[in-house]
Amino acid sequence: MCGIVGVVGNRNATDILMQGLEKLEYRGYDSAGIYVANGDNSSLVKSVGRIADLRAKIGIDVSGSTGIGHTRWATHGQATEDNAHPHTSATGRFVLVHNGVIENYLQIKEEYLAGHDLKGQTDTEIAVHLIGQFVEDSLSVLEAFKKALSIIEGSYAFALVDSEDTDTIYVAKNKSPLLIGLGDGYNMVCSDAMAMIRETSEFMEIHDKELVILTKDAATVTDYDGNEIERDSYTAELDLSDIGKGTYPFYMLKEIDEQPTVMRKLISTYADSEGNMNIDPAIVKSVQDADRIYILAAGTSYNAGFASKAMLEKLTDTPVELGVASEWGYNMPLLSKKPMFILLSQSGETADSRQVLVKANEMGIPSLTVTNVPGSTLSREATYTMLLHAGPEIAVASTKAYTAQVAALAFLAKAVGEANGKAEAAEFDLVHELSIVAQSIEATLSEKDMIADKVEKLLSTTRNAFYIGRGNDYYVAMEASLKLKEISYIQCEGFAAGELKHGTISLIEDGTPVIGLISSSELVAAHTRGNIQEVAARGANVLTVVEEGLEREGDDIVVNKVHPFLATIGMVISTQLIAYYASLQRGLDVDKPRNLAKAVTVE
Ligand code: F6R
Repeated sequence: MCGIVGVVGNRNATDILMQGLEKLEYRGYDSAGIYVANGDNSSLVKSVGRIADLRAKIGIDVSGSTGIGHTRWATHGQATEDNAHPHTSATGRFVLVHNGVIENYLQIKEEYLAGHDLKGQTDTEIAVHLIGQFVEDSLSVLEAFKKALSIIEGSYAFALVDSEDTDTIYVAKNKSPLLIGLGDGYNMVCSDAMAMIRETSEFMEIHDKELVILTKDAATVTDYDGNEIERDSYTAELDLSDIGKGTYPFYMLKEIDEQPTVMRKLISTYADSEGNMNIDPAIVKSVQDADRIYILAAGTSYNAGFASKAMLEKLTDTPVELGVASEWGYNMPLLSKKPMFILLSQSGETADSRQVLVKANEMGIPSLTVTNVPGSTLSREATYTMLLHAGPEIAVASTKAYTAQVAALAFLAKAVGEANGKAEAAEFDLVHELSIVAQSIEATLSEKDMIADKVEKLLSTTRNAFYIGRGNDYYVAMEASLKLKEISYIQCEGFAAGELKHGTISLIEDGTPVIGLISSSELVAAHTRGNIQEVAARGANVLTVVEEGLEREGDDIVVNKVHPFLATIGMVISTQLIAYYASLQRGLDVDKPRNLAKAVTVE
């Protein structure tokens, strides 16, 4: 979702902006643009489509040492060049990029901008016209920016350049992510650290409702009243090679392949050499004190919560309830007496999840963010954080973060269970079992060609499909269907196998692909097989993914057996590959599916 990059100082701004925008591509966007300041030769270049389309429009004359760039994921107004950022004020003096949603933009237009001629439909253009208007009304640039911030409601990350004084970038944020990068003789602002690590590894956070005056030598943080705030910088432990694709055709395949390594990394992080759990005792105590665990998340992370629910309940003896973050932010149900909130979020920036956290903080509920991104908003604002250590996930479709979330929660569950004196937790040799999971993943990964072949036969022309399963397999079906639909555009439902006959089975017709997942006990497996028979009898084209030991002749994909607590990890891998090949075989952009963004920073 929208990405911002800006630089001021002694560097080639065009290069830095374009490289930054390329690194921000993974977030999802449908247009892009840059502004490079250079007196009378300043350039504003925008393009609909990919960064490559923007690059094609940039000539050698686009040069300077201060600039701002943006990738736009359309919210207000379609993906057109007029709506693409940067936007300019009425006279063209001020140039602004914005990530977020200005809720009162129509009121602002009516109240302050009568007679202003706007080129596009965006809330951002209104914001920059407002700033320009206040300067026309004789405020200084800083005062005008502050006054605009006091009027604007909603979420925003702003980077503003005054073309008449290009030694400064004015920055502010509320609810949308933004980070400062500090260099030698130059400074940067960006939506995330990954887009800046080629230039610097020294970063500084900006908190909500803070303003930063960024020059080549300083980043001065203030509140909106102008009071200066001391803020230490920090060095990020990011490795540039982590964000390359290497020889892989797509990030998604690389990230699927990384999962055994991620499992081993989690073992070395959350267990000591004797296999004892290595989890912050304060987190363990906080979960122990709770009478109910609430997992709040969106999309794949929500599905990872379900995939961990049974294991968490069995090991901790605490009921676990799942909540869709976008619903709970504004419709919080009746909670138990001693709730504990776990926010699952790969990016740590999901606005819907953050809204829940804001509520939880207001209510004094202890919270734990389980995220892949250190220093992310959800991590900063929750009581506790556990990191996924999965390395940057670039493909929009989340894969390694899902399995890392389930594995990380397994460490937490075992640590809490042991602290509660539960024999089942003490007996569960997680380090050993997770090593087996890593091997099982490797075994599935070695079957890629076979899986690609089956996908070609099953899904190459279909418009719809079903995943079915019971218990944990149902939860995996939810994730498997989300993955398939988001990158292959095949409409797919993940269904509880037994529920199909209560209505949805009417959709099954000759050739409808149905993928059956079977990993549970013999008894449950027998029931799922019964449901598979029901759809097959109505013409469905069936593919089975079965855990070793439960297979029968004619099954398609057999997955190595793993501990039942971790079976959701074992089962999901082949479904990730099914989605990958379905997308690839349709000639789609696997890593950047249409309409989607990696970090969903608007509600
Ligand atoms: C799907 C996917 C999304 C995210 C969701 C939440 O592959 O990645 O469904 O899981 O947008 O994002 P995070 O986990 O960053 O909070």
